Amino acid sequence: MTMRHELARVITSREVARGIIRLAVRSPLIAATALPGQFVNVRVDHRSLYPLLRRPFSVSRTDGEVCELLFNVVGPGTERLAAKRADDTIDMIGPLGKPFCLDHEIGTAVIVAGGLGVAPFPFLTAALEKKGARILTLLGARTRAMVIRDHLTDVRVATDDGSEGLKGTVVDLLERTLSGGQTPNPKIFGCGPTPMLRALSAVAAARDIPCELSLEGSMACGVGLCQGCPVERTAGGRKYALVCTDGPTFESTEITL
Ligand SMILES: Cc1cc2nc3c(=O)[nH]c(=O)nc-3n(C[C@H](O)[C@H](O)[C@H](O)COP(=O)(O)OP(=O)(O)OC[C@H]3O[C@@H](n4cnc5c(N)ncnc54)[C@H](O)[C@@H]3O)c2cc1C
Ligand code: FES
Repeated sequence: MTMRHELARVITSREVARGIIRLAVRSPLIAATALPGQFVNVRVDHRSLYPLLRRPFSVSRTDGEVCELLFNVVGPGTERLAAKRADDTIDMIGPLGKPFCLDHEIGTAVIVAGGLGVAPFPFLTAALEKKGARILTLLGARTRAMVIRDHLTDVRVATDDGSEGLKGTVVDLLERTLSGGQTPNPKIFGCGPTPMLRALSAVAAARDIPCELSLEGSMACGVGLCQGCPVERTAGGRKYALVCTDGPTFESTEITL
């Protein structure tokens, strides 16, 4: 798959929840080739050396020549990205990484997102809809105001404070949903904080359900050069896989979190 380097022009930037930004940029080469689960590595200001390292973000959605990113403002890179306005530019490399695997027959795609782990799923939802899979989307958030449901299908919610949906974690909601028996031939797609992904893997293993996870740990080069993004493998030749090139999507049985 060819990696592209584009100076992408901002079309819109919108705060969809407190500190969470949806950024739409015109990046025709990356939008045309990206697949769900892949990411872009962004140099926020191409005229400045700070921040030096690129920052990785999932491709949240594509629409023609447009790529959308959904991100949380947590530090200098995302603060600068949040300050971008229409007609500003950002320097993007992508699409990077291994997409979600959609080769097999999927009866029910059960999407499980914790917090900003929702970012890659609008893109995945569009691909699953084309494939004709039934989709169930389970979102976990701290509170109702942090639930971001745009471009998703059949959404159910769990919140830590009980302000919407189930009071509990999104993995509690998954257990309840699977026990309801309404998910024939399921495959789980998960993204979120590591403790949530660990719990998700355990549920999938206990019920023998295929489960693919998208990891969002720290990263530097994004292209397999710095060895800065290892994740432990359960089997196979190498003890560690690289999140940027072997992932960010992995079968849950492939890795130890
Ligand atoms: C493949 C991949 C895809 C990603 N997709 C998205 C996305 O779609 N939306 C999004 O909001 N974020 C995503 N991230 C995380 C995002 O890259 C970081 O939040 C971003 O790099 C932070 O940059 P910063 O300069 O603002 O903050 P930094 O100064 O780099 O970090 C600020 C604080 O956040 C913590 N932090 C930084 N990165 C992470 C991380 N990955 N996980 C947990 N804590 C972190 C740091 O430890 C620090 O405490 C993704 C990461 C990867 C590897
Ligand atoms: S980020 Fe450099 S090898 Fe993965």
